[in-house]
Amino acid sequence: MASPSQARPMSYTAQRYDFRDKPGDYARLAQDLSGLLAGESDRIANAANTAALIFAALPEINWAGFYFLRGTELVLGPFQGKPACVRIMLGQGVCGAAAAQRRTLVVPDVQKFPGHITCDAASRAEIVVPLLEGGTLIGVLDVDSPRAARFDEADARGLEALAALVVTASAARPGR
Ligand code: SME
Repeated sequence: MASPSQARPMSYTAQRYDFRDKPGDYARLAQDLSGLLAGESDRIANAANTAALIFAALPEINWAGFYFLRGTELVLGPFQGKPACVRIMLGQGVCGAAAAQRRTLVVPDVQKFPGHITCDAASRAEIVVPLLEGGTLIGVLDVDSPRAARFDEADARGLEALAALVVTASAARPGR
C-alpha cells in the first residue's frame, strides 16, 4: 500500500453518472470519494478533491465547495466555480442559516430566500449541508445550480453522505 507521502496514480471519469438513479449514483460517488480520500487526512486536500469530484459528477451545477467555521464566521475553503464571497456570519445567507441550524437546507429558489448571498448571479437553487464532527459544527458543504428546484431530498441524503466522508477522513489525524 502506498504511503500518504507517495503520489498515487488515480483516474476519474464522470461519464457513468447521469443521476437518473440518484440514490444509486450517490452511492457510487461515495465509493469513489472513499477511494479518493483513503490514506489522506489533510482536510484542505480532501475538501479540494471532494469539491472537484462533486463539480465534475453532478449535472446542472455551477458551484460546489466548502466554508469552514472560524470563530463565529464561515470562511471560504476549497471550491469549484466562480470566485465567491470569503466570509459569512453564522445565521447569514443559506450557508450561515444551515450552519446555525445544523441541518441541511434545500432552497428551490434562492431569490425567495431572505438574506441569500449572491456570489454568482446565475445561481437559482442551492443546497447546504453542515459538516458535523461528533456533533460539533466545523463548516458547510455548499452546492449551487442555475436551475430552480434542482435539488431534492435524494440530493440532501447523497450530499450528507459525501460530507460525512470528508469529516471522517480528516478526523483521524487532525491538524496534519
Ligand atoms: N449563496 C450562499 C453564499 C455562498 S455562494 O453561493 C458560493 C449563501 O447565501 O449563503
